[in-house]
Amino acid sequence: MQRRAILKLIGTSALALTAGLATPASAQEVFKLGLILPMTGPSATTGRQIDAAVKLFQAQNGDTAGGKKIQVIVKDDGGVADQTKRLAQDLIVNEKVGALAGFGLTPLALATAPLSTQAKVPQIVMAAATATITEASPFIVRTSFTLPQATVPMAEWAAANGMKKVVTLVTDYGPGIDAEKAFTATFTGKGGTVENLRVPLANPDFSPFLQKAADAKPDALFVFVPSGFGAQFMKQFTERGLDKSGIKLIGTGDVTDDDLLNGMGDVALGVITSHHYSAAHDSPENKAFVTAFKAANGGMRPNFMAVGGYDGMQALYAGLKATNGQGGEALVNAMKGLAWTSPRGAVSIDPQTRDIINPISIRKVEKVGGELYNVEFTTLPAVKDPVKAAKAQ
Ligand code: DHB
Repeated sequence: MQRRAILKLIGTSALALTAGLATPASAQEVFKLGLILPMTGPSATTGRQIDAAVKLFQAQNGDTAGGKKIQVIVKDDGGVADQTKRLAQDLIVNEKVGALAGFGLTPLALATAPLSTQAKVPQIVMAAATATITEASPFIVRTSFTLPQATVPMAEWAAANGMKKVVTLVTDYGPGIDAEKAFTATFTGKGGTVENLRVPLANPDFSPFLQKAADAKPDALFVFVPSGFGAQFMKQFTERGLDKSGIKLIGTGDVTDDDLLNGMGDVALGVITSHHYSAAHDSPENKAFVTAFKAANGGMRPNFMAVGGYDGMQALYAGLKATNGQGGEALVNAMKGLAWTSPRGAVSIDPQTRDIINPISIRKVEKVGGELYNVEFTTLPAVKDPVKAAKAQ
């Protein structure tokens, strides 16, 4: 009897304690972020860069936002869509994550989109860049970029700088096809002619395509390969003798990715690309970012994937602050229209499309202080994804 009475007392006081502490205890509430990245496989550089950027953001900004403790759970999908989907399902059902983030390749983001919609879990796309991705779920917010957004300025620059005939060579999946279409439509619209070549995503051998490109004798070769594939492309470009062919190499900045650029050697000198981020971007915010990122990662230079991850955390923290730590639809709505200064420059989340609006620069590979960099020489501010901008008209 006595024992039961004591237990009853403990039960009551425990309840009272919980109720009494309800307000201060909420400060300790955890908001879990499921960060799914390719940490292994051919896109492992993307995973490594984003993981490092997320860690840096938390080291600089603390691990609380909107009164919640942000716990990041990193999962490796190896760049395989079935794995991404399985991991997302597990994070939603068992870990009860408040948001998902990462998504190193387009198929990985698309495989997860129906789960985000069904569970009403915000999905922050930090890397994948096919234009249509944000249309796959109203819960997707993107902090990377879109291929058409980066490509149209390159095509305009090529046409304005005397190029008449271009061969495009792209990796044959979403972002490559986006780049090919955007380049072709813009460049032919300005009177140029284009021949299109596509190379498979898995184990690409660029040689036969480079031979075809050389035989066509264009003014320039426009290339898109995903982050992590640029060094292999440049090696085969040199082996096929295209560096001495007089054919100018142009592309989106994915091919001269800052993670690999310095290892490509002098063959990369003079390559012209368009992109939303260069480690050489001249701003106090970027200088501070590059210095801190290198210091925390044994000298590794941040690339555009790192900035997509860093900005994704910026959007998450600002969104949680605005909603007092609420997730779901409220968090997605709070992220719409957010604006901040990123290492890439002034950015905002388009409230209509949930894509990031950011500057796009034309850059040339040059040697600065003995290292290769994409040196920006022309910048267009506040560029929207042109595919969705055209649809909205
Ligand atoms: C995608 C992946 C990349 O590595 C990149 O540089 C651009 C786009 C993608 O799969 O969407």
